[in-house]
Amino acid sequence: MTGGDGDVGYAANSKIQGKAIVMSRPLLRSAVEQAHAWLSSRPGTMVVADLGCSSGPNTLAVVSMVLDALAGRCQQPPVHVQFFLNDLHGNDFNLVFRSLELFDQVVGKDKGDAPLPPYYIAGLPGSFYTRLFPDRCVHLFHSSYCLMIRSKVPEELASGAILNEGNVYIWEATPPSVVKAYQEQFRQDFSLFLELRHAELVAGGQMVVTFLGRKNKDVLRGEMSYLWGLLSKSLQSLVQQGRVEKEKMESFNLPLYAPSVDEVEAVIESGGLFDVDHVELFETNWDPEDDDTDSDVVLDGAQSGVNVAKGMRAVLAPLLTHHFGDGILDDLFQMYARNVAKHLEKVKTKYAVILLSLKARRAEN
Ligand SMILES: C[S@@+](CC[C@H](N)C(=O)[O-])C[C@H]1O[C@@H](n2cnc3c(N)ncnc32)[C@H](O)[C@@H]1O
Repeated sequence: MTGGDGDVGYAANSKIQGKAIVMSRPLLRSAVEQAHAWLSSRPGTMVVADLGCSSGPNTLAVVSMVLDALAGRCQQPPVHVQFFLNDLHGNDFNLVFRSLELFDQVVGKDKGDAPLPPYYIAGLPGSFYTRLFPDRCVHLFHSSYCLMIRSKVPEELASGAILNEGNVYIWEATPPSVVKAYQEQFRQDFSLFLELRHAELVAGGQMVVTFLGRKNKDVLRGEMSYLWGLLSKSLQSLVQQGRVEKEKMESFNLPLYAPSVDEVEAVIESGGLFDVDHVELFETNWDPEDDDTDSDVVLDGAQSGVNVAKGMRAVLAPLLTHHFGDGILDDLFQMYARNVAKHLEKVKTKYAVILLSLKARRAEN
């Protein structure tokens, strides 16, 4: 993600992800209430971790939602809450820390007879594909818009042993070997994630997560495939113009995979570590400014294209700059905005977001 609070940063361009956090609110509230009830027989500190917290308004929205769910409940039993905000080492934690003073002032206001519990917030750098906590000490994990991100590009693809026909993600011409490599990477990453979190959770501990998934059963035409297919098309135009070397383009693949609900459930079931309390797939428009989920008409395609491109740039700029340098970003995303506009005028494709609530299976501590 692009750090900082400027115009092109993630903080200013994370409205789409914010919508998923709002959608997860009821499940998060219920998970907090259950964790609170759990503590009634074992008084102690409630430990809550947000994995892949990034920096910006969404980071503290999660903290605020947990505190809201506890407002007025902190006497019975008395509970202190320890938050850990986790992300990769390169995350702009400074931006998060700088906003905490204002957050403390705002969040504590006007709670009247529903006071908030004492809370403490710490940053926790590290990959959620590694252990982050000691055994059995976390009551609740939350993670939003992260688990479609793979720990790496599948090895065969990264090494060039298999090629993706000029695509940066799975798309119509993607060979079966590439699809299989992405699916296997997802299976490995997600089962590892479940094992790690299970070891860190207390008995009955919970996870509420959202991430990009796939509604379309056809893996070659998933909703995210369209999004990245249009990026591939834009990069291919730069190759044709001689701005990007063909080999450079062919060696660029996104470390992402958007699974179907069936694929997610299969991994959870084969691990046998969690019970699924709730699973659903909901849709949001690609354009963060378009809240009309009932209509299949895009009113201003050009503006929607620009809005989508801004959000994608905030997410992908560091990865693209690392591979191609920063000389192509402006042209690439202008072209991408036009390609998205043309696509949306034909079909209003939406993000498919999986919302999942899990409870750790285990004998009592
Ligand atoms: C799309 S952002 C979502 C951020 C935030 N949760 C939100 O809803 O706005 C994905 C975040 O996941 C982080 N991330 C990706 N892979 C990670 C990993 N293996 N461990 C920890 N964080 C990771 C990224 O750095 C980024 O901040």
